[in-house]
Amino acid sequence: MARSGRLRVGVLASGRGSNLQAIIDASEAGKLEAVIVVVLSDKPDVYALERARRHAIPGLFVDPKSHATREAFDTALIAALTEHQVELVCLAGYMRVLTAAFINHFRHRVMNIHPALLPSFPGLHAQRQALRHGVKFSGCTVHFADEGVDTGPIIIQAVVPVFDDDSEETLAARILTYEHQIYPRAIQLYAEGRLRVRGRHVTCRGSEADRAPREGWGYMHP
Ligand code: GAR
Repeated sequence: MARSGRLRVGVLASGRGSNLQAIIDASEAGKLEAVIVVVLSDKPDVYALERARRHAIPGLFVDPKSHATREAFDTALIAALTEHQVELVCLAGYMRVLTAAFINHFRHRVMNIHPALLPSFPGLHAQRQALRHGVKFSGCTVHFADEGVDTGPIIIQAVVPVFDDDSEETLAARILTYEHQIYPRAIQLYAEGRLRVRGRHVTCRGSEADRAPREGWGYMHP
């Protein structure tokens, strides 16, 4: 069914919200056929909620402690997202694992961004994991969320080099600049209705140029 108007996006965030900001900026600049209609956080005083406030986006702290179970908490999230008629949920530094009930409710309508080339280095401290492992390249991944931790079908990845003198901070900063590019891009492809999911595979209808990794996303030719 054709969608009328811009895609309604709900963002879940637990921290500073720089990816949230990248999506807000792309949306406000008219580069996204999507609009953030609500920001939800599991932490009360995070900068992500302040960013929402500054852009007149409804921002809501949902307290995990006031819900007896993870299921009850996620039910509250679903209710808030439904109330705002959210069509796509974007996890942006959201540090809780979603329940199966949440994933089933929004199947293939939840995106996540992770600061590593999945399936390498899922979970916490992805950049630290990459440095400890000694990889020469890392990067970031936008994928559809499933019941696992950073395991769902991959939409877009960007590759960045890892240098000998990198610290966790310098590597994280290099990766973050690409996160801010590929997340809005993935949302735009979704908004255009061009993504198809079959099992683990996400394909993108359209021109070759749009489908291929881009040099601007840190892709390195051999
Ligand atoms: C980002 O680097 C994001 O990829 C990561 O948390 C950071 C949030 O930054 N997410 C994960 O590690 C999820 N497994 P932000 O709040 O500035 O967007």
